[in-house]
Amino acid sequence: MSKQFAVIGNPIEHSRSPELHLAFSQKTGIDLNYVKRFAEIEDFEQSVETFFKNENGVGMNVTVPFKERAFAMCAELSERAKIAKAVNTLSYKNGQYFGDNTDGQGLVEAIQALDWNLENSTMLIIGAGGATRGVIYPLVKAGVKKIVIANRTLARAEQLIDDLKASVSEAELSCITLDQLDGHFDFVINATSASLAGDALVLPENLQFKYAYEMAYGKASSFLDQAKARGCETSEGFGMLVGQAVESFYIWNGVKPNIKDFL
Ligand code: ATR
Repeated sequence: MSKQFAVIGNPIEHSRSPELHLAFSQKTGIDLNYVKRFAEIEDFEQSVETFFKNENGVGMNVTVPFKERAFAMCAELSERAKIAKAVNTLSYKNGQYFGDNTDGQGLVEAIQALDWNLENSTMLIIGAGGATRGVIYPLVKAGVKKIVIANRTLARAEQLIDDLKASVSEAELSCITLDQLDGHFDFVINATSASLAGDALVLPENLQFKYAYEMAYGKASSFLDQAKARGCETSEGFGMLVGQAVESFYIWNGVKPNIKDFL
């Protein structure tokens, strides 16, 4: 029988995870079934339990808005999931849930697949929500030396730095508000929610950078438009999605597909 996998979320219709995992399955020869699973907000935990306990589930990806609740269900967590305080990859072993978070490593692998060099680099991350929390640790472990977090609400960025600084002490972290965007960086990452992308974000001329990465994908991005207009190299977030899927596949199946085959 095929190994059973699912991605759970609300909404879930838009998810591209099944097509990715089925493409990995074809490439690696690992026989699996991977479906979208919608959960009502109040039914998330029950739906996870049913999948693993009654339906022979082997692994589950978790997406919006359930990553923090998946985190709360786990008896065991990877270091990067502990730091992200969110789980996007669930496995079930000996009656207990193991949680990991592959989003940040997905971003690292997407950037590396573009041949953009993270080693000793400097980075401005715009946004201080869950998306930013999930990526800082893997980015620093991949060589980023200085990160400035710019956020509309400064207190939220300060809190994030307070929470994370002990685990990424090899890097310099600081924060600013959106009207203080300034200086030279190798990278600028837009980690604000997609609604902002076509909205208020303005990159001033005195902010200079080489590479721009938009975490969202498939949407108009004024952030990327502004970066392209000044001749920077740019990417939207589809590679990050592929990267997190590759990492989840590796956790569950012990084989790592090559991200470049699926971009
Ligand atoms: P996610 O999990 O995707 O990071 P989130 O935790 O809701 O989502 O965080 C959204 C991020 O986008 C935050 O940094 C938020 O800024 P605030 O902390 O000030 O709320 C940012 N954001 C969303 N809409 C925005 C807007 N219109 N202008 C500026 N920042 C915005």
